[in-house]
Amino acid sequence: MRLMSIDAVMPGMVLSRPVYGIDGRRWLAQGVELTQHYIDRLRELGILMVYVWDEATSGVEVRDVVSDETRSRAMAIVCKMLAEASRGTIHARRMALYSEASDAVGAIIDELRSKMRTVVSIMNLKSFDGYTYEHSVNCCILGIMTGMGLKYNDIKLRNLGIGLLMHDIGKMMVPRDILNKAGSLDPWEFRRVQMHPEAGFKLLSEDDEISATSRVICLQHHERCDGSGYPRGLTIDSIQEFARIGAVVDVYDALTSDRIYRPAYMPSQAAEILRRGAGREFDPEIVEEFLSHIAPYPIGATVRLSTGQSAVVVDINTDDIARPVVRILGQDEEARAANAGEEIDLSKHREINIAFCLRP
Ligand SMILES: [Fe+2]
Repeated sequence: MRLMSIDAVMPGMVLSRPVYGIDGRRWLAQGVELTQHYIDRLRELGILMVYVWDEATSGVEVRDVVSDETRSRAMAIVCKMLAEASRGTIHARRMALYSEASDAVGAIIDELRSKMRTVVSIMNLKSFDGYTYEHSVNCCILGIMTGMGLKYNDIKLRNLGIGLLMHDIGKMMVPRDILNKAGSLDPWEFRRVQMHPEAGFKLLSEDDEISATSRVICLQHHERCDGSGYPRGLTIDSIQEFARIGAVVDVYDALTSDRIYRPAYMPSQAAEILRRGAGREFDPEIVEEFLSHIAPYPIGATVRLSTGQSAVVVDINTDDIARPVVRILGQDEEARAANAGEEIDLSKHREINIAFCLRP
């Protein structure tokens, strides 16, 4: 399977990962042959990269850290909660919603716990419209992985997960045309966006069912350790650990998503941005723990090696995540002459490095 830009996808290519709609329901299944209509629709939805089967990556499989079923169940509940919040009816249905959210988070914890070591080796592809829903679920999964690394018990993990699932609930009070605006925001629009942490916190504070530690993620996930965040400009000692995790996963997932105003960064680039911010905006321990679960070069990504050859990542070494197994591509003149199709385990060939990851 190969990660490919929608602009390079041709009719007749076959999807190797499903594509989900914003309510968590599968829109296109794995194995669907793409038609021009599907390709146009994917582009309209803002899905600018897809996983397809291709000859160069035959036999390559990639698994998400949680099953598609669990992910879509969590997405469906976020979709419901945010819809209730935007209608102002969330309180009337809170008991049912929170218990569903708690069950969805429990399923994520169980699946992550069942693995020896969790490494995200896949790009999460989101539509523009479904961004908030998919982003919330992704933050929840990434945050729980980080919490597990920090040896949190199940109660803490559940509270962390629920808070992350709802961290952007206040965005329902921000007009959609501001959230999806392609250009830069004017000062009034910027203030509206900056109100979402407090709006969400206020909404959740009316309910006893949701713990104070979960709620604080809503309020503080845009605070930064050096005081440069909002809404209160708090510094590291005043920002709760859950919210410091929230800040890291929120920024990472936003950076690795295609947005209306810029294309996605590849995981290696996003990791670099987080590392640069560690000790200033972000808690350095949390950044390191989080990044130890993120393969900088995901499976299916095309990379350029220090030898000058292009290759595609076909497997991840979970003990050495920055040095995956790559398969040499045949499109370069040198490669065609030499070793196209050969697989190199970079953890065993330390003389060869990845120079950079190509955007598909
Ligand atoms: Fe936010």
